[in-house]
Amino acid sequence: MEIVITDTPEAGAVLVADVIERAIGRDRASVIGLATGSSPLLSYRELIRRHRDTGLSFADVEAFLLDEYVGLHADHPESYRSFIKRELTDHLDLPGSNLHSPDGSAADLAAAAVAYDRAIVDAGGVDVQILGIGRDGHIGFNEPSSSLGSRTRLKTLTEETRIDNSRFFDGDIDQVPRHCMTQGIGTILDARHIVMIANGDAKAKPVALAVEGPITAMVPASALQLHPHVTVIVDEAASVALTHADYYRHTYRNKPSWQTL
Ligand code: F6R
Repeated sequence: MEIVITDTPEAGAVLVADVIERAIGRDRASVIGLATGSSPLLSYRELIRRHRDTGLSFADVEAFLLDEYVGLHADHPESYRSFIKRELTDHLDLPGSNLHSPDGSAADLAAAAVAYDRAIVDAGGVDVQILGIGRDGHIGFNEPSSSLGSRTRLKTLTEETRIDNSRFFDGDIDQVPRHCMTQGIGTILDARHIVMIANGDAKAKPVALAVEGPITAMVPASALQLHPHVTVIVDEAASVALTHADYYRHTYRNKPSWQTL
């Protein structure tokens, strides 16, 4: 894992956008995995800026969302499909038909989950997967105790995650769905390059457990240690619990030749 500690979240967002721009530059028809939530927002704003100011084109990109609530219609303003359209794809030239998200309102959710994994494979697999991390160490909505080999499926959200996400629902936890459809940890690990973003002191503990702790289903993000190409981009606040922070700074920071770039 490459652990890049940046002075500010804005500096991290530039690096994330660089990774995506490189992927698109190598192969315009690249497949990008998108997370929702707060962590990637600065990166998404940087991509929108590059599209507007430099002509970075997403016309041939396929985008796959990590997860979706079950029980919210896709058009609900807080569905993850609405969120990513509002925060990113509506501001790019990505064709609407190239945006894929788990169908959380399918009559047959199990079949929809299998179809979603199949669609990712049919698109050629994810080239770059963007991830955030939950305070409980979740990635996607794979909560603690999720199988490290899991595929896209229905999951129940923990109380902690529903409390965290209630900020998007007028602070009312009762409005936050109890279930979601999420890519499994095994699905996420199939991506060729994974970029996990974490900012702020609330993420310091889960980041340290994910990067330096044992691989365990109780910290789903720790499964990333099994992947050959993961870049973790954290600001100073999210890095404070890392035992080897100085080593990471020395190895990965401000190095134009670091592996992902
Ligand atoms: C979002 C997702 C979640 C978030 C995580 C962190 O699609 O899958 O795993 O990445 O809950 O959320 P934020 O970034 O809002 O702190």
